[in-house]
Amino acid sequence: NKDLQAAGSLRTQLTNLFRLAINKAYPDLTDEPVVAACNNPKFGDYQCNNAMQLFAKLKGKEGAPKAPRDVASALVANLPPNELLSETSLAGPGFINIRLSNEFLSKRVSEMLKLGLQPPFSPDLSSKKCVVDFSSPNVAKEMHVGHLRSTIIGDTICRTLELCGAQVLRLNHIGDWGTQFGMLIQHMSELTPSADGGATGDESISDLMELYRAAKKRFDEDEGFKQRAREAVTALQSGDEKSLRMWRAICAASRKEFAAIYERLGVRVEERGESFYNPMLKAVVEELKEKGCAEESDGAICVFVEGQSIPLIVQKSDGGFGYASTDMAAIKHRLEVEKADWIIYVTDAGQAQHFDLVFSAAKKAGWIGTPESKAKIDHVGFGLVLGEDGKKFKTRSGDVVRLVELLDEAKARCTDTIRTRSQETGETVDEASLEHAASAMGYGAVKYADLKSHRMTNYKFSFDSMLDLKGNTAVYLLYAHARIAGIARKAEKDIDALAASTPIVVAHQREVDLALHLSRFPEAMEDMLQELTPNRLTDYLYELSERFNAFYVDCKVLGSEEEGSRLQLVEATARVMRQCFSLLGLIPLYRI
Ligand code: ARG
Repeated sequence: NKDLQAAGSLRTQLTNLFRLAINKAYPDLTDEPVVAACNNPKFGDYQCNNAMQLFAKLKGKEGAPKAPRDVASALVANLPPNELLSETSLAGPGFINIRLSNEFLSKRVSEMLKLGLQPPFSPDLSSKKCVVDFSSPNVAKEMHVGHLRSTIIGDTICRTLELCGAQVLRLNHIGDWGTQFGMLIQHMSELTPSADGGATGDESISDLMELYRAAKKRFDEDEGFKQRAREAVTALQSGDEKSLRMWRAICAASRKEFAAIYERLGVRVEERGESFYNPMLKAVVEELKEKGCAEESDGAICVFVEGQSIPLIVQKSDGGFGYASTDMAAIKHRLEVEKADWIIYVTDAGQAQHFDLVFSAAKKAGWIGTPESKAKIDHVGFGLVLGEDGKKFKTRSGDVVRLVELLDEAKARCTDTIRTRSQETGETVDEASLEHAASAMGYGAVKYADLKSHRMTNYKFSFDSMLDLKGNTAVYLLYAHARIAGIARKAEKDIDALAASTPIVVAHQREVDLALHLSRFPEAMEDMLQELTPNRLTDYLYELSERFNAFYVDCKVLGSEEEGSRLQLVEATARVMRQCFSLLGLIPLYRI
């Protein structure tokens, strides 16, 4: 991916070196270097795997090398002088194994401490303006675990892009428009024949859902009501005052509920719901028709896309516009008005086909994929959230699980954990710190559990496993960080002054392992942005804590001869951990 030319990543730096080597050894060939981390650290830190392919291209030419290994040797011989490598070795048919020098790693960690972890220590994106469409619950309906996943994954994607210096427009494409409102408004005003139709804006989501269910039942059973509900849609769409007032009140009521969840999760997202695009729908469909992209089929206006069994319906046979029409207007608006060069949609994997159709239709219309508009577009799908029994996540009584209750329970369990631990250690915690720590841990645990499994897998929601004090959990990592921060605190040294005066020297194997992993932080971000998989970050973070543990067991820090250097490794670990926490939306704790 040409987009991620990270100045800071080790992989990119090595790639640059090997590009020069290929160029020098074989000026006619322009192969892009293939550099990857070694799977087995015994062989090296990184590998370059180009020799075999280069050999195949050179074969038969004059003076061609005899074997791929000769190509590998030639590449090594043509590497420009540099401070990165300490040794290279050949393996198998022509793999080049690379070991980084300890001096280079020491210097790099020291620079990370001095310069911070923003660019150039984060990937340098070619996308400057990104739109991330995430969370996006529906008005008058409960926000469910699927929306929770979208919120958590979307937030981490935004945070990572932001750390790389991109401008990110976080959009909440809430379902606030459509025929369901006719039904609801009609039902409510028949129940309460007053000027506001009984819609005050103070309804709870459960009130609204109750009303919605009743309205739906009547709609399905009562022909007369169905007719009146249809008329109510028309009234709403043609701007009838009372209908609009009721609609606004219903949206306001839902918004309060959504806001409470975002507030707890510390997620920022700007509401720009489906209704925002309503005034644009007609023109968009016209444009598609004019360009010959959309045609009539069974009374509906459809965009047919090659390789897809079903078309994208941009206008229904009754003349109405739906979800797909809105998404066409939205994509156009984001490209042309927002000038986005990367648009990312985060929804359940079940919507993959819908987005495939939308993206293809946008290409057909010439909005993307042209020399003028090279914007990238991605659908980030995710799997289901399952209960511990492996079935669809529900309450015991079979209802949708309320997110507020989930978050409450996570926090309550953490309050218990912290109390118990403080009784064990004899350290007292005051109420305010307890409250702060329990929220950080409880909400953090829910987020982390979601982010750490590959997004496409279905994951089991289990309080017991997400709140485990050992293993790859937020709780474990937050405790680990507090311990590490405690070491630096105990030393009572000004780390910035230390970093300015004392060089880091890594010599012990555990120090080298830790410094190498610290140096790889930009790569974890790169991988995450390449695949849009947040678990790349959690894997990185967990391994960091493991390498730190191994280091701390074998390398004495406080009171040792190497204290000055080692304290900097401790501090760098704490800082990189905090940077990971920040990308994952976790709040670090210093004393628990
Ligand atoms: N409201 C939709 C749902 O609950 C998600 C919207 C996703 N974004 C979009 N532009 N279609 O499934």
